[in-house]
Amino acid sequence: MIKKIEEASGESKKSLFETLKMDVSAHHKAEESVLFPDVKKKSDEDGKDIVLEMVEEHHLGSYQMGLLERTSADNETWDAKFAVLKEVLTHHMDEEEKDLFKQAKKVLSNDELTAMYEPFEKKEEAAK
Ligand SMILES: [Fe+2]
Ligand SMILES: [Fe+2]
Repeated sequence: MIKKIEEASGESKKSLFETLKMDVSAHHKAEESVLFPDVKKKSDEDGKDIVLEMVEEHHLGSYQMGLLERTSADNETWDAKFAVLKEVLTHHMDEEEKDLFKQAKKVLSNDELTAMYEPFEKKEEAAK
């Protein structure tokens, strides 16, 4: 999706971005309401810090997506703003995979994680 947006221009760039924004926001909401609270509750201080950092990175992504939404696609700063969003999101996905998922698997059983799939997807759909 990021690559598609980088290659698009004008109105199609803006509409692809709107889809990305909706998907990412819904994904963040689902993580924050279904996954993160249980991981945080069951973690030690270091584990809690991982969850708190993930939430702050969501905020950073939301802030940057808000800027992009309010900037017209032909503004010369749009691509620069989008490049920063890409950095924030790729950094976040990387840390989430490396640190957060590892922590989640440490404090939650496979059954507990599996039981989250359905509510997670429901929350994501509702947020869209
Ligand atoms: Fe996340
Ligand atoms: Fe995620």
